[in-house]
Amino acid sequence: MVNKEFIEKLFSIKDKVAVVTGATGALGSAVAAGYCMAGAKVILTARNGEKLSKLAAELKAAGGVCEHIAADPTVEEDVRKIMKFAADTYGELNILCTCHGFNAAKGVLEQSVEEWQKIMDANTKSVYLLAKYAAERMVAQKKGGKIVVTSSARSKRGMKGYTGYSASKGAVDLLVQSLGCDLGQYNIQVNSLNPTVFRSDLTEWMFHDDNVYQNFLKRLPIGRLGEPEDFIGMAIFLASPASDFFTSSNYAADGGYWGN
Ligand SMILES: NC(=O)c1ccc[n+]([C@@H]2O[C@H](COP(=O)([O-])OP(=O)(O)OC[C@H]3O[C@@H](n4cnc5c(N)ncnc54)[C@H](OP(=O)(O)O)[C@@H]3O)[C@@H](O)[C@H]2O)c1
Repeated sequence: MVNKEFIEKLFSIKDKVAVVTGATGALGSAVAAGYCMAGAKVILTARNGEKLSKLAAELKAAGGVCEHIAADPTVEEDVRKIMKFAADTYGELNILCTCHGFNAAKGVLEQSVEEWQKIMDANTKSVYLLAKYAAERMVAQKKGGKIVVTSSARSKRGMKGYTGYSASKGAVDLLVQSLGCDLGQYNIQVNSLNPTVFRSDLTEWMFHDDNVYQNFLKRLPIGRLGEPEDFIGMAIFLASPASDFFTSSNYAADGGYWGN
């Protein structure tokens, strides 16, 4: 029945335990702050412990409940440690939001196989590992769960210098669709958000290349690039009961880029 209580709970993630990866990045720190301010208990993770500790202090000072663990999401043992840390710290794990990622834009003739593999591991293998071990906990808890993966609008569009990045994100989109199929029976929903250009260290170079910058703007019906805050609403929606019927999907976070 649609009453006040139903609506109040619809978008609520209050008291849920969420792991946010790439928590020190532009999108990760926005999601981490959004989840904290929405009342979730948040485990912040990335590889650089100093940056994590600074972020955790800022979020706590703003009233958030969070702890942090430095870990490499491409290393299986580290990923298992993240999930154990979440359960040991807050008792369970309800939400995983992956916001880490890496690119080294280079032509196929210039890029080494090793560097290409590094992109694939950072963007694809890591998501597989995180989803696998988060799902293992969620299934054991028998309470369902939410997995929100940050992919990219580049997952469905190639680009010069992107044989690694576009391929890694295309794989992530299908990984998300298949994970949703595997985990539906456990009431675990898995979706991706596919951003186009948001302000971050990763996209800094685009802001300094006027041709690339103007070209992007022309292709965004909304007429501006994304700000990290634009990402928070959908990240909360996909972690909340409002998205219980939504799974195995790749959602554009792109100001209309895919539709143009
Ligand atoms: N910003 C955009 O315009 C945009 C567009 C499309 C897609 N995306 C995707 O959105 C996600 C977040 O991007 P962002 O812009 O927030 O990036 P960002 O500001 O550069 O932050 C990246 C985060 O990932 C971690 N990281 C960096 N290199 C890594 C590696 N090799 N392996 C594992 N973790 C690594 C970083 O922390 P540590 O180095 O401490 O681990 C950091 O927390 C990524 O998946 C990215 O591909 C972003």
